[in-house]
Order: sequence, then structure tokens, then C-alpha cells
Amino acid sequence: MKSIILFDSLEEAKSMISHRETRRVKLEGNTYGLTRFNEIFYFYEAYCPHQEYSLIRDQIGLRPEIICGWHSYRFSLDSGEEKEKRCRNLRVQKLKANRECKLKSV
Ligand code: FES
Repeated sequence: MKSIILFDSLEEAKSMISHRETRRVKLEGNTYGLTRFNEIFYFYEAYCPHQEYSLIRDQIGLRPEIICGWHSYRFSLDSGEEKEKRCRNLRVQKLKANRECKLKSV
């Protein structure tokens, strides 16, 4: 994923996405998931690496991980790793703030 500015400020990002909420983001014809866990924002591929079920849900769980609704594979939002290593990692990125406090995928 290339670097794209998604929000003008951290405050704007926080006002648009609540803790544990997920959003669908369309960029250049591709769909991604965007979520927030406490103060950290994560950008991730929208479909499960196992059998491509959608990973965009209303909320994530009580940990920073995405749980697929089909076979319940659990993907860490920090590493993308599936908890039991049953398939490839989910592509995930933490959003970073640049010097102007704009958030972007890196
Ligand atoms: S499709 Fe996601 S765990 Fe099987």
C-alpha cells in the first residue's frame, strides 16, 4: 500500500472512528478496512486470507485483532499473523502521523 493521507489531523480521525469501530475505505478501486483500537488506527485488507470472507464488521473485539465471521480465524492487528498460523498473514498497517499531524498509511 502506498502512502496516502487519510485525515487532516488526529482529532479529525478520532471524531470519525470510535474505539473498536470499523469502516470500509475505497481507494483507487480497492477496498480496505480501517479501524481504531484505543489511540491506534489500523488499515487492513478487507477480505480474509483464508477464503476471502469480508473482514469489515461493525466492531472488532476486546483485543486489537480481527476475527473472521466465517471460520473464526483471528488476525493480530499489530502483526497480521493468524493466531494458529493456519493461513498467510493479513496485510495490516498502523497509521502514522506525519510532521503536520496528518495520518497516512505507510
Ligand atoms: S474465510 Fe475467514 S476464516 Fe475462513
